[in-house]
Amino acid sequence: MRRIKKKKLPEIAIGMVGHIAHGKTTLTRALTGKLTLAHSEELKRGITIRLGYANFVIRKCPKCGEYTTQEKCPKCGEKTEPIKRVYIIDAPGHETLMATMIAAASIIDAAILVIAANEPCPQPQTKEHLKALEIAGIKHIVVVQNKIDTVSKEKAIENYKQIKKFIKGTIAENAPIIPISAQHGKNLDILLKILNEEIPVPERDLTKDPIFLIARSFDVNKPGTPIEELRGGVIGGALIQGTLKVGDEIEILPGRRVEENGTVKYIPIKTKIESLSTGTEFVDEIYPGESAGVGTKLDPMVTKSDQLAGNVAGKNLPPVWTKLKVEVHLLDKIVGFKEEMDVEPIKINEHLMINAWTAKSLGIVTKIKGNEVEMDLRIPICIAKGEKIILSRRVGQKWRLIGYGIIK
Ligand code: GTP
Ligand code: MG
Repeated sequence: MRRIKKKKLPEIAIGMVGHIAHGKTTLTRALTGKLTLAHSEELKRGITIRLGYANFVIRKCPKCGEYTTQEKCPKCGEKTEPIKRVYIIDAPGHETLMATMIAAASIIDAAILVIAANEPCPQPQTKEHLKALEIAGIKHIVVVQNKIDTVSKEKAIENYKQIKKFIKGTIAENAPIIPISAQHGKNLDILLKILNEEIPVPERDLTKDPIFLIARSFDVNKPGTPIEELRGGVIGGALIQGTLKVGDEIEILPGRRVEENGTVKYIPIKTKIESLSTGTEFVDEIYPGESAGVGTKLDPMVTKSDQLAGNVAGKNLPPVWTKLKVEVHLLDKIVGFKEEMDVEPIKINEHLMINAWTAKSLGIVTKIKGNEVEMDLRIPICIAKGEKIILSRRVGQKWRLIGYGIIK
């Protein structure tokens, strides 16, 4: 990989969300040229299981105004100008992987809701993902009506009407709907134009202490690598505030899980940043909204197999909680099933799944007073006061979104 001094472009982080097999990964690949399916199980099953990262630059032709990701204008051959860098977080659509999709929602500024034109709309996770975006407070959404190559014009219009009806009254009500074929690269120029014009670049606070949310962690060494060539553990995720530079000392919380005499402890980690990579290139510094692989001095045993996923890295990090008091806001309905059902009030001793930034834990409800709920956490989480945690409840065999809590 090249090591470059980065030229700063405005940047946005966009989540690719929507029902299973509607074409999120295909669209990510069409835009970025990168296949985010990498894990052997993903390749075998053909579905996304973990969050995928890739980025690309929206470019515009100064001569004919064409939007493209190419350096040379596909229409007139002129050299194109870079406008904006887009970090894509490709989420899984499988109904059992909602927690992973919710983790994606914690690190994005906007979302592309992918809806396949060849299935009736809405499908269960089309609804559930849109609800999760709403709960997470994502305001900018672009709807992609994908796979238009597989349907007739009449069918596409009928599906478009279903989409319009579905988004009415939701946060996506006024979202642009762009017919696309991710497979054939059709209308990608229109999508690029819309992404450029409709999604504002958020204000970034570079002066705050860095907070890097870890979504994955790896041992990047191939088996049999000689000890002197071993690289330290790598953490993957996104920076939500501040900056991180090569050489920075960081802490990681809650830290490493250790079991001693039957009790589980989490030991905070301190390490130094050895490298920063955006997937295609090494950089010296990363900024908010960017996803990156952070090479550290850690023993790769500590980072292998996503062991640090859900941890937070940075400086002067927020507290680690083992108990939480939250102000709860419940949804009216549980979505994500074929049939919707009412959300019952939370009960004492109930077990709730908690998504806090990229972390996942189980909360056992110990006290309820009005909309204030206290719980003990099975796994400690690091998150700032005032932040939202997403709450799910087990209904039948699956965890279903029921609302959110604000940490008091
Ligand atoms: P999950 O991540 O598992 O939820 O799936 P996904 O939404 O990422 O779908 P993916 O991109 O893996 O595509 C699913 C299937 O649809 C693959 O076989 C793709 O080749 C196909 N597909 C995606 N986009 C298009 C399209 O525009 N046209 C056609 N004909 N097929 C498409
Ligand atoms: Mg996928």
